[in-house]
Amino acid sequence: HFGGGTGGRLAGKHILVTAGPTHEPIDPVRYIANRSSGKQGYAIAGALAALGARVTLVSGPVALATPPGVSRIDVETAQDMANAVARALPADAAVMVAAVGDWRTDAAGQKIKKEGGAPPSLQLSENPDILAMLAASPRRPALVVGFAAETERVVEHATAKRARKGADWIVANDVSGDVMGGEANAIHLVTADGVEHWERLPKDEVARRLAQRIADAL
Ligand code: CTP
Ligand code: CA
Repeated sequence: HFGGGTGGRLAGKHILVTAGPTHEPIDPVRYIANRSSGKQGYAIAGALAALGARVTLVSGPVALATPPGVSRIDVETAQDMANAVARALPADAAVMVAAVGDWRTDAAGQKIKKEGGAPPSLQLSENPDILAMLAASPRRPALVVGFAAETERVVEHATAKRARKGADWIVANDVSGDVMGGEANAIHLVTADGVEHWERLPKDEVARRLAQRIADAL
């Protein structure tokens, strides 16, 4: 294992981070995905490791290098991600940054062909809510942090999500602008104590501040 031995504020702590999108296959060549670069989640994993935590990063498909000191597990689908998260427990904290696909479809074994007229319709089923399952689990980490990407009524939706999913904190960001794939993020931190509005910051700085807050809480 990496990290943990450097004597930082999070030395001896195991922190689980999810990041990136999931890919839900339609057939061997097509998939349904969310828009996510993975940058914010990777920055958080790196910032936690820099404070001495042992970090397990469960990552959907992204084009990013693993941050120094982070142990990475690659997954494709939401169900894979749920299984990898369960296997990575126990953890002292979990930060669920991944843009998990809400729906999957039964993947066809062979490539679906256009020939034959009408376009295919996809029968969708709902994926497991990894954050809600973790928060309700007997092996619940002491601190469970979720993210909420919203395009409108950001704090209202994030506050409702915090209650619905049983998370300690929700980090809400307004994705109506150019946040997706961009380098900066304006976030609202929703906790039991209320809502903090952070100024627009580079994603690395959001990560460093959040890692410090997590160290304060643990
Ligand atoms: N999340 C998860 N598993 C899912 C869906 C979401 O763990 N199947 C987590 C995300 O990683 C994030 C938080 O839940 O930390 C909020 O995700 P979001 O998509 O904003 O919430 P949903 O409940 O899926 O609501 P919405 O209908 O707005 O997509
Ligand atoms: Ca969702």
